[in-house]
Amino acid sequence: MTVNGRNRHRALVVGGSTGIGRGVADAWADTGLDVMVLSRSEPVGAGADRLRWVATDLTDPAQVTESLTAAVDEPLHAVCYSAVHYGDGRALFKDSTEAEWRRQIDVNLHGLWLTLSQALPALRRADSPGVFLGISSEVVYNAGPGRSGYAASKAAAAALLDSLAQEETAEASGTEALSIVQALPAGMVDTPGIRRRRPQGFDYSTYMGPASFAPLARELAATGGAGLHGAHLVVDDAGAWYPAREKMPRSQSRKVSSRTAS
Ligand SMILES: NC(=O)c1ccc[n+]([C@@H]2O[C@H](COP(=O)([O-])OP(=O)(O)OC[C@H]3O[C@@H](n4cnc5c(N)ncnc54)[C@H](OP(=O)(O)O)[C@@H]3O)[C@@H](O)[C@H]2O)c1
Repeated sequence: MTVNGRNRHRALVVGGSTGIGRGVADAWADTGLDVMVLSRSEPVGAGADRLRWVATDLTDPAQVTESLTAAVDEPLHAVCYSAVHYGDGRALFKDSTEAEWRRQIDVNLHGLWLTLSQALPALRRADSPGVFLGISSEVVYNAGPGRSGYAASKAAAAALLDSLAQEETAEASGTEALSIVQALPAGMVDTPGIRRRRPQGFDYSTYMGPASFAPLARELAATGGAGLHGAHLVVDDAGAWYPAREKMPRSQSRKVSSRTAS
């Protein structure tokens, strides 16, 4: 897409229809990036008309490959993976199903792998260093009862990104390296995915909003993630961030009761 005869830099947000991914997509659109969103449902509400949406179900690898092929037909400057399958609710391992586990692996991990396989070459083709932002979670550090599938899939996703960050150096690529950055919220974030798992009338007043990720997203778009390659950043309510290694991310786990008699 061109504006005033100039090519607009392009961005991709997988899981950008709602929640934190939508916060990142909106922030990138604010900076003038041409943003494509992959998700099952179409982005709605203020600013949605600025996002190009390609309907994609991450549990269907053929569809994901087709969507990604369209997304990478031109170089990418910024990519975010925020898609998640939380599951029906927190449940002990003995109450969890294999179908739920497979879905968490498909959406939280395999979709990330598929995205990286196509997005990293497209980021390397950009005329300035690009940035890959993975949305992480405190469960990567803390695990948690009743969250085994979510915690295991998120920890594997974090390890995948860490490994690629170690591979992805200027020396290895022969060009100025792209940046791989992970970011996680300091607390719970009020998103549709979380709301689906809370009772009616739940008090969200202590929850962060997806817009807290906007300042970091804007910074990454402006700098290509320079100086942040390989970082795990904790984003707070005010939109500030700090390295996770400075302060252990706070657990959001709670006691989970059995759904069935043991
Ligand atoms: N919210 C929190 O408190 C919190 C805390 C820690 C970490 N996080 C992390 O933040 C990230 C985003 O979470 P969120 O709470 O913002 O979630 P959310 O509001 O539920 O958004 C999830 C996104 O993933 C997409 N998605 C889910 N299943 C999909 C599928 N099968 N195919 C394609 N797209 C799919 C959704 O789009 P469609 O439904 O339209 O397909 C949506 O765009 C996750 O990585 C999560 O681990 C969140």
